[in-house]
This record gives sequence, C-alpha cells and structure tokens, in this order.
Amino acid sequence: MTKKYKNIIDAHCHYDDSWFDEDREELLSSLPEYGVELVITNAVDLKSAGVIRAYAEKYPHVYFTAGFHPENLEDIPPDYPALLTEALKHPKCVAIGEIGLDYHWDIPKDLQQKVFEEQLILSKELDLPVVVHDREAHGDTMDLLRKYRPKGLMHCFSGSVELMREVMRLGMSISLGGVVTFKNARHSVECAGQVPADRLLLETDAPYLSPVPNRGKRNDSRNIAYVAEKIAEIRGMDVQELLDITSKNTKELFSIEN
Ligand code: NI
Repeated sequence: MTKKYKNIIDAHCHYDDSWFDEDREELLSSLPEYGVELVITNAVDLKSAGVIRAYAEKYPHVYFTAGFHPENLEDIPPDYPALLTEALKHPKCVAIGEIGLDYHWDIPKDLQQKVFEEQLILSKELDLPVVVHDREAHGDTMDLLRKYRPKGLMHCFSGSVELMREVMRLGMSISLGGVVTFKNARHSVECAGQVPADRLLLETDAPYLSPVPNRGKRNDSRNIAYVAEKIAEIRGMDVQELLDITSKNTKELFSIEN
C-alpha cells in the first residue's frame, strides 16, 4: 500500500484488540507514512480505556474515548459514572464511547438501556460527544437519543436513509466504513450518497469490517483510502476533497485542535 492521499482520519477503531498484539507498535507508528493524520481508538470498558490511553500518550496522532460498550457490562462497577468521569478528564480523551444498544446478542436489554441512558446523561453533564453503537436496536436507540439529544456520532451507521435523516434532525453525525464497499450494502450506499457533507465521518472499526479488496482480512486505518474512494465515487467528487471534508468534520465534532 502506497501513500496516495493525505489528511486521512479514522474516526472509529479498536487498536487494543488482540488481533494487533503482534505488530501494534510498528503499525501505529507507521500510519502517518500512509497519509493517516489521526485515529480515534474507542474503548469498550474502563480497562480498555486505560490501555488505549497509553497509546494516545505515546503517539501524537492517536486519540481515544472512554465508555462502556453494551457487550461489556458483565463486571460493570456500581460507581462507574464517577470512574468514567475521571477517565474522561484526559486531554486526549475526546468522547464517551463506544456506548449504545446491541440486541444481536443475548444481553439483558434493561441493563443495556440503563447504562446507555446513564452515559447519555453524563455526556450532557460533561458536555462531551458520544459515539453510539446501534445493532438491531434502532427503535430503542433512537428513543433515548430523542430524549437526551446528545452531540455525537452514530458509528458504522447501518440504518435506512429515513433513519439517517432523523439522526440529522437530532444534530448528530454518522460514520461509514468498509460495509459501503460490500455487495448488497444498499442502505450504506444510499446513505453515503445522501448524507449532508458536513455530517459524514469515515471509520474502519478496525480490526473488523475490512473494505473490499481486503474484505475478511484484519482491518487498519490505512484502508480508509478504499472507503473514501467508494464514497467519493458514489457522490461524484474528488477523493482527496472528501478526505479533507470528513477530516474537518471529525476534528470539529471531537473538538480536536491540530
Ligand atoms: Ni467499534
């Protein structure tokens, strides 16, 4: 893979995943050589937030989030809002994430909704954006977002154009990733074409969801180039122009000045 573009930002990835254990440092340090200016690696719980904080402290181009993912609620401490508030004070911690609802797995819905709601309340108190995960839970996710109207991002957005428009009305942004390059990704392609330019961010969700031509392999932030090429083609615009716009959107949403 050669450097074709500049100003690439990966708005959502998971560099603490064990899939990166064998070459994480090498990969993270090499990203700027491929035009990747900045990545936001997302936590799934407090332990994960602590691990990725160390990456952010080591690499100028790495930022992070802190929050409880709906799949990681098993050992959630009762005083977690206070612990989370502490973690969020770090200057490179830019959002509460990733949080939300996942009805694909058999995780108690009442617990998921309680923790999601408490983290939305925290985001209002601390005036921080949220990174929302919504898997097969569009109705309940939107109900809580309508109730609290946080600023933030619906990551790996998988809904219809109608749902995307409602997310826009709430003032939130969406990010799209490798799925947009898959065959049969009708919703993603439609949203890629119709989302307002100032509300679109690009992500990998690395190590998952690698775009074509690397589908099925481990994903990393360099693959944003393929996502950008596909979306630029759908929108009939220049790839670098799309990267410039989505990077600006990401920095604005997460209040990153650099
Ligand atoms: Ni994720």
